[in-house]
Amino acid sequence: MAEVVIVPSAEEAGRLAADAIIRLIARKPNAVLGLATGSTPLSTYAALAERATAEAGDLTHVRGFALDEYLGLPADHPESYRAVITREVVEPLGLTPPNIHVPNGSPDGIETAGDDYERAIVAAGGVDLQILGIGTDGHVGFNEPGSSFASLTRVKTLTEQTRRDNARFFAAQNAGEASDAVPMHCITQGLGTILRARHLVLLAFGAAKAAAVAAAVEGPVTASQPGSIIQLHPHTTVIIDEAAAADLANADYYRHAWLNRPAWQQL
Ligand code: GLP
Repeated sequence: MAEVVIVPSAEEAGRLAADAIIRLIARKPNAVLGLATGSTPLSTYAALAERATAEAGDLTHVRGFALDEYLGLPADHPESYRAVITREVVEPLGLTPPNIHVPNGSPDGIETAGDDYERAIVAAGGVDLQILGIGTDGHVGFNEPGSSFASLTRVKTLTEQTRRDNARFFAAQNAGEASDAVPMHCITQGLGTILRARHLVLLAFGAAKAAAVAAAVEGPVTASQPGSIIQLHPHTTVIIDEAAAADLANADYYRHAWLNRPAWQQL
């Protein structure tokens, strides 16, 4: 099962996730990171920006693949995931821009963009550590409920719930309905793509994520809860705050296991 670590704050979660990433880069300077967007990984990126160069050394060989991208946003749109990854990861960490890949959400060539992205991940040797958030409806990447466990990078239609959840990022562009500015389509790594990563680190904070976290960690493995793919993966770490852990039936056991972890055990 996934290792579940319940921490007091998003900052503490970010520190733990950063520990694992720093150890990976120290061991493998050209490590391949799977990069999530959204608000959840920000504390991890902040911890990395603060510590990674001092603790892991040169980051210029680190490679990265974003999970997903909106379809049809202009290249310079501030909420395109290309722009978000540049602003929140590439620049603060001092990564090398050509080493960091984001699915191509331009309508031009969209028919082959998924296959191209899969080839690029394979050519890089696969993702070493994939950072994941989770949507309130259980989506990972932009794999909405019902996504095939075997799916690879492809175009998907967002649920209205996801568009509403993400409307806050597009506040400046909102005119009518809150979610109108959020694109309806996206291109996302598939659940099959995500399952190929060597280590999954799923982060979640706040009460709004409690049901999705419980379904992912303890619910039946079902396409109706895309987060439940973590139960199929041999190495998943779930780092969550108390509010996101509220619906877990076995929370006491996870705390017990973490407190009593063997001295040699690292995330
Ligand atoms: C977004 C992203 C996901 C992210 C999730 C949660 O729409 N595509 O990769 O994990 O939804 O977002 P947040 O972290 O902002 O709650």
